[in-house]
Amino acid sequence: MSTGLLHLHSLLRWVILILLLVTLYQSFVKNEKIKSTSLWLMIVAHVMLLIGTYQSILGRFGWMNLPEGVSVMKDSFYRFYLVEHPTLMIASIVLIALARGKSKDLNYSAVNKLLLIALVLILAAVPWPFRGEPIGRPWLP
Ligand code: HEM
Repeated sequence: MSTGLLHLHSLLRWVILILLLVTLYQSFVKNEKIKSTSLWLMIVAHVMLLIGTYQSILGRFGWMNLPEGVSVMKDSFYRFYLVEHPTLMIASIVLIALARGKSKDLNYSAVNKLLLIALVLILAAVPWPFRGEPIGRPWLP
């Protein structure tokens, strides 16, 4: 089950990024369809939060399976996957939820600002292949 969830988590990054870009575009051109796109974006972001929380606690590199003697903050691999990645991603999911609220009132400029910051956080926190070993992961599951 864990492998399936990891693949889903990896694949959904593209769904989040596409929905985020579409919602951002809609906030620029002031399209009312932003109400439904931002809802889908928020739903997918929360699915990522659920899977990510499971992985961080019970996954192969999760807190419950830490090898003996590892100091998370001193180990760049564990610091990335158990602290930096979750913190930045949770911050981006909060921004996505706030943007969803603003899009219900068609407050396009607020949605715009919130989602731009969320996009930067996500791009910075994804373990892209070019991050190199041991953090980098493939483009696709
Ligand atoms: C927008 C939200 C998120 C995106 C786009 C994202 C993206 C990714 C990607 C692309 C991977 C690598 C998957 C692979 O091996 O191919 C990954 C791994 C991981 N993510 Fe996330 N993530 C998000 C949110 C979260 C959150 C909120 C948490 C924790 C609360 C989390 C915890 C993890 C962990 C622990 C791994 C490593 C799992 C393993 O290798 O066993 N992620 N994430």
